[in-house]
Amino acid sequence: MDLEKIRADFPVTRHTAYLENGGFSPTPMPVAKAVYEYLEEAGSGFTTQFIGKTLDMAADTRAKLASFLGGSQEEIAIVRNTADAATHVAAGLEWEEGDKILISEVEHPSNWLPWVRLQKMGVKTVVVPVKQDGRVDPEDFHRLIDKKTRLIALNHIPSPSGIIQPCEEVGKIARDSGVLFYVDAAQSAGQVRVDVKRLNCDFLAFTCAKFMCGPQGTGVFYIRNGLLDKMEPSSIGWFNIDHDKSTITLGDFANRAVEAEVKTKSTAEAFEAPGTPPWALIAGLRRAVQ
Ligand SMILES: Cc1ncc(COP(=O)(O)O)c(C=O)c1O
Repeated sequence: MDLEKIRADFPVTRHTAYLENGGFSPTPMPVAKAVYEYLEEAGSGFTTQFIGKTLDMAADTRAKLASFLGGSQEEIAIVRNTADAATHVAAGLEWEEGDKILISEVEHPSNWLPWVRLQKMGVKTVVVPVKQDGRVDPEDFHRLIDKKTRLIALNHIPSPSGIIQPCEEVGKIARDSGVLFYVDAAQSAGQVRVDVKRLNCDFLAFTCAKFMCGPQGTGVFYIRNGLLDKMEPSSIGWFNIDHDKSTITLGDFANRAVEAEVKTKSTAEAFEAPGTPPWALIAGLRRAVQ
């Protein structure tokens, strides 16, 4: 590893010992360059060839993220941030009055606001206390699970303490009990190994603006295979529909609205931007994960 070369990619290191990656990482120059180079090429015009290349670039980014996380490309959506992903889960699942969600007491607002908002549908969020060292006790989750418990949402690393939560154990308890498990990996992705299989999770999300060193405004949302058909994307547009299974073509305007049969994509991509994607940022994210 050539430390001097790595430092040169982070101009901030010329004048500062930067220790604030848990908030926002300074953008590394190769990432900034990838964003710029994409926009520079886009400046020459959106030819059919360029659009094809752009779609391949986005698919390659998903493939790289999938191998980074130990999942498959179909399970990866590029979203805006962690809050975006949690909101997709909260809005995408079908809830019944009386359902329960368990969270820990050290969740970031991005991992409690989306769940607490479900109160208006009669869904209750139960806050599980942590031990003195900031860790949750998996047994506390075990004890609190009952017939109405649908989801456990837990961070992998909480920002107040920086400790690593026993997500593998909590995930196993959730799976054995038929409860869904959502992991907020905002502080862990890029800092410690994040493997969706080892974590026994059904959903996992992170922002790319912290230890991933990606562009601000990019995030990753993992949805385990087999769950997609139980979830409904809350936004729809010409970019997240399945063109093979829908009866409209890109040339159709609202005159086709009445007879149109439209299905959203059958992969996690259904949860990405429903309209024009942030391709320049995705180009930067591709470079970051690379
Ligand atoms: C554990 C954790 N989750 C979520 C977030 C916020 O993520 P986002 O801005 O992507 O919603 C943070 C940011 O500090 C965090 O520390």
